[in-house]
Amino acid sequence: MKGIVLLGAPGAGKGTQAKLIAGRYSLPHISTGDILRSNIKEGTQLGRLAKSYIDEGRLVPDEVVVAIVRDRLAKPDCENGFLLDGFPRTTAQAEELDKFARVTHAVDIEVDPAEVVKRIAGRRMCRCGESYHISSHSSPYCDKCGAELYQRDDDKEETVAKRLEVYAEQTAPLIGYYRDKGVLFGVNGMKSVDEVFAQIAEVLDGND
Ligand code: AP5
Repeated sequence: MKGIVLLGAPGAGKGTQAKLIAGRYSLPHISTGDILRSNIKEGTQLGRLAKSYIDEGRLVPDEVVVAIVRDRLAKPDCENGFLLDGFPRTTAQAEELDKFARVTHAVDIEVDPAEVVKRIAGRRMCRCGESYHISSHSSPYCDKCGAELYQRDDDKEETVAKRLEVYAEQTAPLIGYYRDKGVLFGVNGMKSVDEVFAQIAEVLDGND
């Protein structure tokens, strides 16, 4: 059974790789960022709370996201494994996760800071969930559903700077946390999407 967490800076390619991993290994893809954004879109109480943090590039409080993930992992589709994207993001979240799930692989997508800024600046989203980069997709419309693409609110330059600062301070220490547990696998995220995925598949196929 695979219990995977994806680590990496904002824009490193976690969401991109998560879709490929979930498809190949039939795992539920659980993105705390996507869950929070869909709550914002629906105007729920959680969404209103999350918006104030996300818009400033800060982390939503640990107890809020831990409760979301605990509930989600209790669903039947997680019985045979899970893929977490964007969680945990603090040592406190990782410690809580250890109480209700077993992490078998913490995959860290390593990308230079200058490259993540470029990737975020060029990212365009579709309301259907697809994500593109302007360097490989020049059309302003989604290939899958035809809707107009948009830029995420928290992808503005000043918010990105804060997100990167928060990552360095609060999330990067998780690399050591999972290394100490013997489940850390670093992959070179500076390669193409397919090449990054090939490295991840090698890790996942080689270790159960
Ligand atoms: P979240 O949605 O998790 O955002 P993030 O971690 O900042 O990551 P991103 O979604 O920006 O990037 P990604 O690594 O998925 O990259 P992507 O694949 O899109 O969180 C947003 C906010 O929610 C947080 O700031 C926080 O406020 C809150 N939050 C979420 N989880 C939380 C938690 N656990 N605790 C507290 N708060 C939480 O790729 C980026 C771009 O690069 C795309 O355009 C893509 O096409 C392109 N790309 C991808 N791979 C490659 C490649 N190999 N080569 C070239 N281009 C590539």
